[in-house]
Amino acid sequence: MFDSDKIFPPNPEFAKNARIKSMDEYYALMDEAKNDYEGFWKKYADEKIEWIEPYEKVLDETNAPFYKWFTNGKLNVTIQCIDRHLKDKADKTAIIFEGDRGDVQKITYETLAKEVNRFANLLKNRFDIKKGDRVVLYMPMIPQAVYAMLACARIGAIHSIVFGGFSAEALRDRIKDAKAKLVITADGAYRKSKPYLLKPVVDDALKDGIQSVEAVLVVKRNNEKIDWIEGRDHDYDELIKESSSECEPEIMDSEDPLFLLYTSGSTGKPKGVQHSQAGYILWAQMTMEWVFDIKEGDVYWCTADIGWITGHTYIVYGPLAAGTTTVLFEGVPTYPDAGRAWKMVQEHKITQFYTAPTAIRVLHKMGEDEPKKYDLSSLKVLGTVGEPIDPPAWMWYHEEVGGGRCAVVDTWWQTETGGHMISPLPGATPIKPSCATFALPGIMAEVIDKDGNPKEIGETGLLCITKPWPSMIRTIWGDHERFKKAYFSDAVKDGKAVYFSGDGAMVDKDGYITITGRVDDVINVSGHRLGTAEIEAAVAEDDKVAEVAVVGRPHPIKGESIFVFLVLKEGAVTEDIKSHINSLLSKEIGNIAKADDIVAVPGLPKTRSGKIMRRILRSIAKGEEIKQDISTLEDPSIVANIQEAVKQAV
Ligand code: PRX
Repeated sequence: MFDSDKIFPPNPEFAKNARIKSMDEYYALMDEAKNDYEGFWKKYADEKIEWIEPYEKVLDETNAPFYKWFTNGKLNVTIQCIDRHLKDKADKTAIIFEGDRGDVQKITYETLAKEVNRFANLLKNRFDIKKGDRVVLYMPMIPQAVYAMLACARIGAIHSIVFGGFSAEALRDRIKDAKAKLVITADGAYRKSKPYLLKPVVDDALKDGIQSVEAVLVVKRNNEKIDWIEGRDHDYDELIKESSSECEPEIMDSEDPLFLLYTSGSTGKPKGVQHSQAGYILWAQMTMEWVFDIKEGDVYWCTADIGWITGHTYIVYGPLAAGTTTVLFEGVPTYPDAGRAWKMVQEHKITQFYTAPTAIRVLHKMGEDEPKKYDLSSLKVLGTVGEPIDPPAWMWYHEEVGGGRCAVVDTWWQTETGGHMISPLPGATPIKPSCATFALPGIMAEVIDKDGNPKEIGETGLLCITKPWPSMIRTIWGDHERFKKAYFSDAVKDGKAVYFSGDGAMVDKDGYITITGRVDDVINVSGHRLGTAEIEAAVAEDDKVAEVAVVGRPHPIKGESIFVFLVLKEGAVTEDIKSHINSLLSKEIGNIAKADDIVAVPGLPKTRSGKIMRRILRSIAKGEEIKQDISTLEDPSIVANIQEAVKQAV
């Protein structure tokens, strides 16, 4: 039986050489931050960042919550990630690329520098991309995707990566919102040894024209046949040959935007989370050092896609800023079999492995004994991210993958936080499984009520960050009001609006923080964040649908799955409705938004003022007894009718 109170102390051998070696050291750092917050950050900004010109002020709170960090400092993130390593690490492997079909390419820091500069010159000279211009990337996991990101950073352009699983509609919305000048894509790539295509999705997204878009740059990965629009489409492989490998970095201000990344919220369309230069890169590097304890000679692998924040911070910016070797994998960890990931760990002698609980659950289910077949002794730290990890998955990861010797760091953070916020430190924290444990040094995470009062031990409250931190979201692209409303309007502490994450959490008697999940209408499917409002809007496009409500339902592999309640228009037939709605969801959002359950019900549970009671729907979806008071509903009898319809359908 799993003992939930069991604590896993750090491996003493590992702790000896770890950057943070004990809880005493952790508390000392936290005290330092509490006693002199700006002094704490100044120390690291001075020590870690290669400034072109020094900053003037650590934190400017004048226009809160639009905080500014390291004001008037000048830097370029690519100097931090590449140039400064060329002095002593030019020949070190920066990126190990492994293709889906097993092809491996090792890219040194020197080659990376040249490729990024070539790409940067291409953007500048051929496409007239200037500082502040937006460039959308719709790319597979290939080295050119990393070159493109860093090339944008080199010349001060703002990249916005759209995950390759999003549909043409979703891509179009994001291109339009960012008013992107250029879209960079690939013909396609490989998955499970088969070529798939991306370029047609870009063609579809641009089919009615988007005024801002001047060109599409296409990298050839699989050489499949694609349509070509003369004048608009450009062949990267041809053009790059003529591009010089020397490119002076643009001088950027600490607060200039580095990238946008669209993410779902509880209302409306996805929002463009805007990140900065200095604060972002500082924390990306510091968390690589603290949470993964990155050391010279390590080979680090994060399995995320670069289309998500985890891919940004922990495949590209963090690892390269820390000067390590980062693995970039095109394929899926279950192909050709559930041993693929472990084979890669063995072959590349991976030291830190970072993945999502969904992947762990899949690998566990498909190949419980697979890890035993490989030499995984190089592993030192294992990480998880994106969703809660259940104890059985945690234990298997710890015992079978980590051989009982590696710390499992359950890292809690978000697109908006830029980097880890709450996580064990592998050489210091006694770990409770399935628990994110403590806020990292310098991060003031608190579980409070809306008035800023701390919650009692074991009570769920709002997970807030009560002081600004360097890598925080700066605004929502083009919508400052929405930024304030989405993040700084739910909780106040000491008279000041504080950042509310949208998650609930609780603190136990030992001060450990456990994340209890979203308290807003956001669903987390396999670690992918989807807003119910977005899904409902897509379903409502169907002209048979009169009303719709979407909730998340616990799922053994995906964490949560999508459950759609539909009220059909009179006379509409339900035949094929499931496949119809799912094709609509995949068209409007992407395959990740497909629903597991779609049930036509006679009505929705509404209050007299017309508000849908989602809590009741969540309970029905789970098959739970309804404990909520339903007497306030406009029609309390609807609950039994919905339950009956679900029973018939599921
Ligand atoms: O609900 C939390 C969950 O993922 C949300 C953030 O999603 P996204 O911005 O897409 O970023 C995912 C990768 C950082 C959070 O609000 N989440 C993230 N990490 C954890 C988690 N839930 C539980 N435990 C975690 N370690």
